[in-house]
Amino acid sequence: MRINLPIMVDVLLGLQWGDEGKGKIVDFFAKDYQLVARFQGGPNAGHTLYVNNQKIVLHQIPSGIFHAGIQNLIGNGVVLDPVTLRKECAAVAAFGVDVQKNLFISERAHLILPTHRALDKAAELSKGEQKIGSTLKGIGPTYMDKTGRNGLRVGDLLNKDFKTSYIKLRLKHQQLLDNHNFQEDISAWETEFFEAIEFLRGLNIVNGEYFINEALSAGKRVLAEGAQGSMLDIDFGTFPFVTSSNTISAGVCSGLGIAPQRIREVFGVTKAYCTRVGGGPFPTELHDETGETLRRIGSEFGATTGRPRRCGWIDLVALKYACMLNGVTALVMTKADVLDTFETLQACTAYVLNGQEVDRMPFQLNMESLVPVYRSFPGWQVAIPEMRAADQLPATMQSYIQYIEQYVGVPVRYVSNGPGRDQLIKRP
Ligand code: GDP
Ligand code: IMO
Ligand code: MG
Repeated sequence: MRINLPIMVDVLLGLQWGDEGKGKIVDFFAKDYQLVARFQGGPNAGHTLYVNNQKIVLHQIPSGIFHAGIQNLIGNGVVLDPVTLRKECAAVAAFGVDVQKNLFISERAHLILPTHRALDKAAELSKGEQKIGSTLKGIGPTYMDKTGRNGLRVGDLLNKDFKTSYIKLRLKHQQLLDNHNFQEDISAWETEFFEAIEFLRGLNIVNGEYFINEALSAGKRVLAEGAQGSMLDIDFGTFPFVTSSNTISAGVCSGLGIAPQRIREVFGVTKAYCTRVGGGPFPTELHDETGETLRRIGSEFGATTGRPRRCGWIDLVALKYACMLNGVTALVMTKADVLDTFETLQACTAYVLNGQEVDRMPFQLNMESLVPVYRSFPGWQVAIPEMRAADQLPATMQSYIQYIEQYVGVPVRYVSNGPGRDQLIKRP
């Protein structure tokens, strides 16, 4: 028997190492949906939006929050820091958002405790030169407690014995922290945490899987918003320099409790070039003046940590791999305007690994024995931020885009030509 489910979930996620511009695109697309849902990650994400020409960075709340009448769900696959959430709720309330009306939190989402943050810090310190470059938001330790079957979930807050469960887990963490010889006093973090817990208790805590499936049954359209990027996926990214969740489209089902047949479009967001923040291999990274120029023009500094992002050319080997893993149906190319002044552009089409040319993602990207192979393109050298229609885009840019489409086998349906809400061009 074939079960016919209405197909009404579209997915939007990043195809590189994060910061592709997902927040801006979700905010733009949100008006076509009735529910926007985050399915993984936590406050390591930093999604930048411009609302009334004012910049706001979201870490925990889905990027559909600024649209009245659209529900936003923090799914079970997300790890939630109540302290960050509380601050963020205050920040969006200043824009007139009513979180009581439009924000819903799955009771199955795992809680980030102050000791998870401390453990993140201790683990990074112990790694020395090999550190991941974590955002230190407690992501890894919280997911470890989830798979290790120790963690506390949002739903546990509603139990009388929450404090006892908290103290038990805290004791376990203290032993680990002692092993790391971690000495910092985190009592201020704990005070903040318990204040935020009170606040969280007053929000809409729901059974996320019924919430979303009932919304779908009622004919609502859902947009699932990814965090991080495919090359940071725990299984398919540049392990161990990755985050601790499945960032790819497969994570949507387990992170929200929906069936795979529900998924229709998978919008994959890629910059017209490439960036990475934190440690780990990055084949097309530019350590020269050109890399500096990309960083300066693209304002490539982390939205969560403020760290300078590493910059380089677009990596088509990695992009094609990400399209395959996610089943991407349409590409969104962001930050195309950042390339406006470049005379020549490069796109990586293969890697030479130990003297052999490959166009597949290897098990490990060993940067000592890897040389990227580039194809050159003439730059368009025209300012594009004011353009509003695809036929205005320069021919040289169309050629660059067409090559990418052919290489990865997915059409570029949108080009973003600035950070603003109105700077997104639909291609035929
Ligand atoms: P996210 O994590 O994928 O949501 O991306 P971030 O918000 O961390 O980083 C993207 C940055 O690029 C933000 O500062 C955005 O305002 C900005 N941005 C997004 N799209 C464009 C674009 O098309 N052009 C330019 N110049 N900036 C953009
Ligand atoms: P958004 O959603 C870019 C990186 C960190 C580090 C690694 C592991 O804004 O695209 P973690 O804090 O998860 O332990 O860090 O992953 N990282 C991101 N890089 N954008 C993000 O999110 C990121 N979230 C984590 O820099 O290298
Ligand atoms: Mg970001």
